[in-house]
Amino acid sequence: MQDKLDALVAEALQAIKACRTGNDILNARAGYLGKKSVLNDLFSKLRNLPPEERPAFGQKINQARNQIEEALALSSEEVKKAAWEKQSSAAAIDLSMPGQSLARGGLHPLTLVRRQIEDVFVSMGFQIAEGFDIEDDFHNFDALNTPADHPSRNLADTFYLENGLLLRTQTSTVQIRVMEKYPPPIRIISLGRCYRNDKPDPTHLPMFHQVEALVVDEGISLADLTSTLQQFAQIMFGAGVRSRIRPHFFPFTEPSAEMDISCVSCGGTGCRVCKYNGWIEMGGAGMVDPNVFDAVGIDSERYTGFAFGLGIDRIAMLKYKFPDLRILLENDLRMLRQFK
Ligand code: DAH
Repeated sequence: MQDKLDALVAEALQAIKACRTGNDILNARAGYLGKKSVLNDLFSKLRNLPPEERPAFGQKINQARNQIEEALALSSEEVKKAAWEKQSSAAAIDLSMPGQSLARGGLHPLTLVRRQIEDVFVSMGFQIAEGFDIEDDFHNFDALNTPADHPSRNLADTFYLENGLLLRTQTSTVQIRVMEKYPPPIRIISLGRCYRNDKPDPTHLPMFHQVEALVVDEGISLADLTSTLQQFAQIMFGAGVRSRIRPHFFPFTEPSAEMDISCVSCGGTGCRVCKYNGWIEMGGAGMVDPNVFDAVGIDSERYTGFAFGLGIDRIAMLKYKFPDLRILLENDLRMLRQFK
């Protein structure tokens, strides 16, 4: 029986050493110490021995049990340690590896320019007014002193909706909205989308953006208009930029003017950007026509005002030096990624 016991212990220790998983350990424990184990069987045979041999052999069986228990405990520790090591090395972070770069969004060039324009005018004391993309004839034309037969009312140029409303063709509508609501002094800009039935080409889009300015107070003169324009041009395009106004006609201003800045590309000597004349057209301007004041109930004897409207897409084009307005709407990532 002693031989049998020694052989059993030797076998058990070897088997336990070979355990690799928690399950292996459970199986080994059941096999060598459980109810149906050889050891248990030997234990039950104790009573077949002569009484004087029983204590000594009982002790041996207990020793064998302890040895197997110890081996199981040791092996179980090892299995756990190996599992931990495996897991922690798989999840280990190598701090010397380059990090994964996160894809970062950027602002659209029009948004960037729009914010710059807002900052410039806010710093001059202007407030920002909001208007509507969908307007009526009154705010887009009538109140702006635009006669019924004016060519800009042409059905082919203006997007009319089925309900008789229209997509505004200019941000000048906001002048009316503001003057209807607030008494002078007024000093606002309004930026937003405009719509005209133009075929897209490098310098025209059917949906484009304008910034409108309106200043109304006692004693406002053309000099206020030109100095505001000059200030704006210099902040946007640099201290060396000059500005000028040329006579023009708009129904809602008298006198009316077009505004130019010296070419931001060649400085005024002539190049492809300015079509070799040294100046770049920025938009329309003028002194608010008394008829417009009458339409909104402002006393045109007491107040005067200036207004202008500039193309934001145009400003973006000059600032970021791209040749074709259409790329603003194409959402080509190769273009957009340059504005982060
Ligand atoms: N609304 C005009 C346009 O879209 C531009 C303009 C001209 C705006 C004169 C003004 C202005 O405020 O006074 O062509």
